[in-house]
Amino acid sequence: MTIVTGVTVRVPAKLNLQLAVGPPRADGYHDLVTVFHAVSLFDEITAEPARRDGVSVSGEGADRVPADGDNLALRAVSALRAEVPSAPGVHITIAKRIPVAAGLAGGSGDAAAALVACNELWAGGFGAAQLAEIAARVGSDVAFALLGGTAVGRGRGEQLTPALAPATQYHWVLAFADGHLSTPEVYAALDRQRAREQVPAEPGLDPALMSALRSGDARLVGRALSNDLQPAALSLFPALRKTLAAGLELGALGALVSGSGPTCVFLAASADRALDLAASLSGAGVCRSVARASGPVPGAAIVSGASVTGPR
Ligand code: C5P
Repeated sequence: MTIVTGVTVRVPAKLNLQLAVGPPRADGYHDLVTVFHAVSLFDEITAEPARRDGVSVSGEGADRVPADGDNLALRAVSALRAEVPSAPGVHITIAKRIPVAAGLAGGSGDAAAALVACNELWAGGFGAAQLAEIAARVGSDVAFALLGGTAVGRGRGEQLTPALAPATQYHWVLAFADGHLSTPEVYAALDRQRAREQVPAEPGLDPALMSALRSGDARLVGRALSNDLQPAALSLFPALRKTLAAGLELGALGALVSGSGPTCVFLAASADRALDLAASLSGAGVCRSVARASGPVPGAAIVSGASVTGPR
C-alpha cells in the first residue's frame, strides 16, 4: 500500500493577450473571448492530510488572502470532495509569489493547484477533462490554470481551446501596482462606461493576434495586445496610465493592463531587453515593483509528492 503524505504543486500566473468582453448576462457574468497565456511566475501549494480542512498562506500579499471558506483553494477542495465523499481532511499551505487581486489569476491558480494536489493525495483518479469541469465550478480562470500554455477561452473563460502556435518563448516584464483592483468592480465600471455607448453583442477573437501568434513574431504580438477591461481599470486606477506610457517609452513592443488589473505587462523583444526594461521601469518610480517572466509555460503540475510504502 502507498500512503502519500504530502503533495506539492506549482502553478503559473496568467496574462490575457486579448480580452474581449460582451454585455452582462442574466447571471451577472459576461461572455468573453480571451487569449490566455501562462507565464513563469509561480505559486506553490502543498496539500497534507489533516484532521480538518484548513489553509495557511505565506509570501507576496499573504495578509490579503482569506484563510477561511472564502479561500479559493479551500473552495476547490470542497468541490473535489463532493466527488470523493470519503476523502479525509486536508491542510493546504500556499507559498505566494503571484500578487493578490492583481489581474494575474493568482487565486484561481491556487484553486487549480489544490485540485491537482488533492486528486493525487486522495488517489481520486480524475482525468484532465473531469478536473476542468470541477475547476469551472470554482471560478472562471481555474480551468485555464490547469491547462497552461496559450489558449483561447470562451463563455466565462472556462471553455478552452489550446492555441496552435510555434514554440516561441515571449519575454515579459510585469509591473506590480501599489494597490489592488476588485474584478467585479472593474466589470461593473465597464458596464457603466458602456451604458453610454453601443456595445458589440458578440465579442470576437482578434485575427491579427492569432496570426501574430502563429508567426511567432513578438513585434506583431506586441502590436496586437488588447484588453476591453483596460479603460475600466484605468478609470478606477488612473496612475496606471503613467506606468503603461513609461514602459512603451522605454521600448516595450506592447503594453497592457493584465486582466482586471492593476498589474501592467510589457512585451520585450528578448530576454536581455526584458532585463533592461525591468531595470529602467524599476528606476522610473511608476510601480511598486517589477518582475520578469516568460511564457508560455505549462499549467498546474506536481513538483513533489512524498509517498511512503507500507504493508498491505
Ligand atoms: O469566476 P470568478 O469568481 O473568477 O469571477 C469573479 C467576478 O468577475 C465575477 O463575480 C463577475 O463579477 C466577474 N466576471 C464576469 N464575467 C466573467 C468572469 C468574471 O463578469 N466572464
